[in-house]
Amino acid sequence: MEATWIATAAFGLEGVVSKELTRMGFAAKGENGGARFKADFAGAMSANLWLRTADRVLLEVGCFDALSFEELFEGARALPWEQFISAHSRFPVTGNCARSQLMSIRDCQSILKKAIVERLKAHYHLSWLPEDGAVTAVTFQIHQNRVRLCLDSSGTALNRRGYRTWNGEAPLRETLAAALVDLSGWRPGRPLCDPMCGTGTLLAEAAMRMAHRAPGLTRRFDLEGWPGVPARELQRLRKEAEEAFQPELVQGIEGSDIDPQAVELARRHLAAAGFDKRVPVTVADMRDCFRNEAGGVFLTNPPYGERLSDRKTCEALYRDLGAMAARHPSWSLSAITSHPGFERCFGRRADHKRRFYNGRLECEFMTFRAKAPVRTAPSSDEA
Ligand SMILES: C[S@@+](CC[C@H](N)C(=O)[O-])C[C@H]1O[C@@H](n2cnc3c(N)ncnc32)[C@H](O)[C@@H]1O
Repeated sequence: MEATWIATAAFGLEGVVSKELTRMGFAAKGENGGARFKADFAGAMSANLWLRTADRVLLEVGCFDALSFEELFEGARALPWEQFISAHSRFPVTGNCARSQLMSIRDCQSILKKAIVERLKAHYHLSWLPEDGAVTAVTFQIHQNRVRLCLDSSGTALNRRGYRTWNGEAPLRETLAAALVDLSGWRPGRPLCDPMCGTGTLLAEAAMRMAHRAPGLTRRFDLEGWPGVPARELQRLRKEAEEAFQPELVQGIEGSDIDPQAVELARRHLAAAGFDKRVPVTVADMRDCFRNEAGGVFLTNPPYGERLSDRKTCEALYRDLGAMAARHPSWSLSAITSHPGFERCFGRRADHKRRFYNGRLECEFMTFRAKAPVRTAPSSDEA
């Protein structure tokens, strides 16, 4: 059964998610907060397994206008919930309201829950719903009096790849890291180095891409427990993803960090993601970084110096990063930071800039092209 799905994305990543979907063969359209596409359950399973930059994959059950609680109740009750929610499903309802008549999230939540319960009780001829089965979470968004009701097919957010159980000081969200890998211009076949790699998020995302490893390979999605999904087909897609994973393809990706604990975590994460010893990570000061190969990409998430006391240290670090990049004229360098003086310290104006949020921090992602680029053959890397 074909339905409308929305791959939700963080601010600034909508276009990247839309392109990913297009590469996967869906007719996708970017919109505020994500990208919309049509697919059946198998298509949604593929999206969950393979999307690198989306937060969640939602099934749109319906949209309507509501100015009162009554309209909200009736609008929700009129939708075909029984197509997706069984007599036993657990269906928590969560959401948000903005610039609308109905602004109490808690009231909207309980009215929507009541409306869906009424609909399901009537359909299943039950006086109460046990809610003791698999989860089919309902999400609502009320924006300018327009209500959008969806089901969350992902469950835990998709940035949870399933390999990371230890966090360092300031890890990058995996979905943002995947987007930065893409936007840095790096493609498998070129060397990639993160000289301040922390717990290794950028390295892991690059390695997954190089090895055709589905980011969701080792985790489950709520969709897999939904009633009426073609279980065999979903298993087949999982198996296909397992067969596509070729860790032996990974080479030329390396990282280092000055903090031995961060390096230890990066190694553990990379091993847990299936790349044991395939991505060398060493304890080193970025200032001593020297790479022999030509035509690589430095990609890094340096400290931002958010605390005033750290600002000066950071500025000195950015200056030294500029000097390190200058020693590698055939390499490009991309970095994300919230520090407004990065380019001044680095000593060059960026060739490309994009704005993203890293958590709550508004950041710029800057790319400095190689001064003496090396021509490389194009590669087709995406599964
Ligand atoms: C914002 S964190 C990177 C987080 C990383 N992207 C992750 O996902 O875990 C910045 C890292 O820069 C490292 N760092 C700071 N100064 C450094 C230096 N001079 N050389 C190498 N690493 C340095 C810190 O130890 C820290 O791990």
